Amino acid sequence: MESEELTFRHSDAPSEESAFEMTLRPQTLQEYIGQDQVKQSLRIFIDAAKGRGEPLEHVLLSGPPGLGKTTMAHIMAREVGASIRVTSGPALERVGDLAAILTNLAPGDILFIDEIHRLHKTIAEALYPAMEDFALDIVLGKGPSARTIRLDLPRFTLIGATTRMSLLSAPLRDRFGSLYHLDFYTPDHIKQILHRSAQILQCPVEDDAAKEIAHRARFTPRIANRLLKRVRDYAQVNGTRSISRVIAKEALHALGIDQVGLDLLDRKILSTIIEKFQGGPVGLNTIAASLSEEMATIEEVYEPFLLQLGFLNRTSRGRIATEHAYRHLGVDLAPGQQQLLS
Ligand SMILES: Nc1ncnc2c1ncn2[C@@H]1O[C@H](COP(=O)(O)OP(=O)(O)OP(=O)(O)O)[C@@H](O)[C@H]1O
Ligand SMILES: [Mg+2]
Repeated sequence: MESEELTFRHSDAPSEESAFEMTLRPQTLQEYIGQDQVKQSLRIFIDAAKGRGEPLEHVLLSGPPGLGKTTMAHIMAREVGASIRVTSGPALERVGDLAAILTNLAPGDILFIDEIHRLHKTIAEALYPAMEDFALDIVLGKGPSARTIRLDLPRFTLIGATTRMSLLSAPLRDRFGSLYHLDFYTPDHIKQILHRSAQILQCPVEDDAAKEIAHRARFTPRIANRLLKRVRDYAQVNGTRSISRVIAKEALHALGIDQVGLDLLDRKILSTIIEKFQGGPVGLNTIAASLSEEMATIEEVYEPFLLQLGFLNRTSRGRIATEHAYRHLGVDLAPGQQQLLS
């Protein structure tokens, strides 16, 4: 698809995993499982715009990684029959990059900017008039002879996606006509997603096997699909094509994923807080440093799930491991910690 060209040029070559994701991506709002409230509002939003014969207003999608923001953007484009151009915040280095994309859009086209919170400030500022007035101010030349020209743009729709809503500047956020937040899925919705994916992959999965995988998928479709694929590998190597609960359990155990879906790094984060820092409070940067991990990875990928499970608390003084986390790791609470938590 022409629209994918930009993402692929700027990011790593599409991996096997991302090619796999593509085939499993729901194509219509109806195929999209879960997020019922968002789907309902989007249905109205899309139908109303279509009824008026107008392009969609700008939309901002937020939520943790792998919940279906990119999928949703593609579905919206398909629903209104528009072309979609895909890029991401860090990929746009100069205002010229943005200008090149915007001036090549046709009326009604959708521009999808992933990780929009990572947009450079100057580019975000150039976006304001583009979003509001469909015009772009370009500065030509330097110094006293510099002059600004205003380029008219087609009436396009911007869909922004972000895992970090709080990092978006208020002026940018305010220019979106609607904001949708995707939340973690219920195990039941994840189970439905697994059954759908299993059908596409032609690997029969028993219902209680799907349930087993769903409970360890961090409430996230992308993880569910990834686990399904690994479990499928395991089944295949063990000479069976269909996935039973026993096979699923064995495979997940072999992957180091425990019964609530924590992987090795999740457990390391918790045990670091508990063992090295007496349960906290400890700053995110300190945790990241002692694990040699990126702060952003811990904050955006790992923490939301640990918070959701109630294993971690975020306080102004730092992160605290909860009693729940102690119990899960089988560590006794120190007396001082008991006080802090109560
Ligand atoms: N509601 C859903 N129903 C079925 N499958 C889904 C759903 N949402 C997401 N998926 C699956 O999960 C995968 C990840 O979704 P997607 O790439 O849209 O997430 P994302 O929110 O854009 O993540 P990131 O923030 O990392 O870019 C998709 O390939 C798709 O197969
Ligand atoms: Mg995405």
